[in-house]
Amino acid sequence: MFAATLSRWTMSYFAAALIFLALGEIMMVLGFGYPASAPEAPETLALVHVVVLGWLSLLMTGALLQFVPVLVGWPLSFPSVALPALLVLVTGIASLTLGFGSLSGAINVPVTLLPVGAILSIGGFSVLAFAFAATLWQARPLPLPARFVAVGLAALLCTMLLGGVYAGVLSGLIDAECAIDLTIDGLSLHASLGLCGWLTFTTMGVSYRLLTMFMLSPDKERTSSRVVFVLGALCLGLLAAAVPAVLVGTIGRAPLLILAVGSGAVVAAIYVGDIQRIYRERRRKAIELNSRASIGAFVSLIVAGLLFIALLAAGRLDLGIGAVVYLVTFGWLTGMGLAQLYKIVPFMTWLECYGPALGRMPTPRVQDLVTEASALRWFRLFYLTVAIGTLALLIGSALVFRFASLGQLIAVNALILEFVRTRRLINVPAEIRLPDGFVRPGLFLPSHSSRRFP
Ligand code: HEM
Repeated sequence: MFAATLSRWTMSYFAAALIFLALGEIMMVLGFGYPASAPEAPETLALVHVVVLGWLSLLMTGALLQFVPVLVGWPLSFPSVALPALLVLVTGIASLTLGFGSLSGAINVPVTLLPVGAILSIGGFSVLAFAFAATLWQARPLPLPARFVAVGLAALLCTMLLGGVYAGVLSGLIDAECAIDLTIDGLSLHASLGLCGWLTFTTMGVSYRLLTMFMLSPDKERTSSRVVFVLGALCLGLLAAAVPAVLVGTIGRAPLLILAVGSGAVVAAIYVGDIQRIYRERRRKAIELNSRASIGAFVSLIVAGLLFIALLAAGRLDLGIGAVVYLVTFGWLTGMGLAQLYKIVPFMTWLECYGPALGRMPTPRVQDLVTEASALRWFRLFYLTVAIGTLALLIGSALVFRFASLGQLIAVNALILEFVRTRRLINVPAEIRLPDGFVRPGLFLPSHSSRRFP
């Protein structure tokens, strides 16, 4: 079932996403964007979108190309859009970034790259979202993890619509008063719908399924997980409802936001409880590195939530929100992404290369494709640098932040090298690596052997 739906372009999405991640880390090492520049400076906007669109959103859409069919047991609708969408997205995100760069004066390129990049990015993600939505629609009634994905996709659409309006206003193409109001007042809505709705809510849904699958935990829908879904969807609905509240004036906006923050905190707490239970009830006693490394991501989510509440209570949110966003983006979302890649890459490589021969001849195990001991130290370095980076932002030290980013760049590149070794089958003992007739999978393009899959 899994092999029958092996996605041809997922590895290419992962490769593009990892390149954007390395680029984002280099920007931080060079001091491009926050904290060296102001949070609203164009340099920061360039850095933010390299990370949230180039790295996290490409990673998520690439993973969904593989997992939406697995979650619902239904083949992906319109699978042929995957490659054109990827090409449009890479071009779009690069143009958007250059457009922000042009606004900052750092590079001399036309500012029209900003709206052009926005249109291409919105177009690319919309086409993919349509393919996912069509697949989910056909597979109704949806299992719980797939319902999280559906809500996450709706949040992505709202985020992109707001982003499109902002790009039009910043580049001078749109001058309607309500669009300007939305750009000034609604920025936090765009950021929260993107980070909490699209990226976090979708990650939560997929993690319920992935963690139970990889750790062999009981895979049944629990009341607590359904509460996470309903409350989380309500919280995101309240955020989306704040957009018209911004447009018609401020009435009703504050209570909506307080309700959203409150329900968001409860959602995160129940979700973390669910995850603890999945770890506790696992049948696979030895925890593999992907699941161990995910623990750092869950800890980051908890700490970010507590920090947010503490700053809100102390009335110091303005001073610490950068650290909270950083911890969510790097500790929680990036940590989780890298940890899951550490399992998904060998798993897909194994299926691509040895899956067809299963039961007919001796094949390596999935675990033979990785060397956990060497990757463990890079995950440790990664989370250490996230902790130092967060502290640096809290105490306002741009220099310490750049040093932390340098350590993070090293850790990320070392993990990318681990993925390359896995794809090239370098860790597999030579005598069983490529039995007669087997073809080494392509590094990130579909190889000849994978062409037999749809
Ligand atoms: C795909 C289409 C998108 C476009 C065209 C877009 C465009 C923009 C623009 C023009 C701004 C600046 C607004 C201003 O300064 O008033 C902005 C800010 C922001 N966007 Fe997006 N965005 C998109 C998607 C996303 C996504 C998916 C996320 C998160 C997952 C996101 C996260 C953010 C954040 C956090 C900020 C605030 C950054 C800061 O204040 O430094 N964006 N976006």
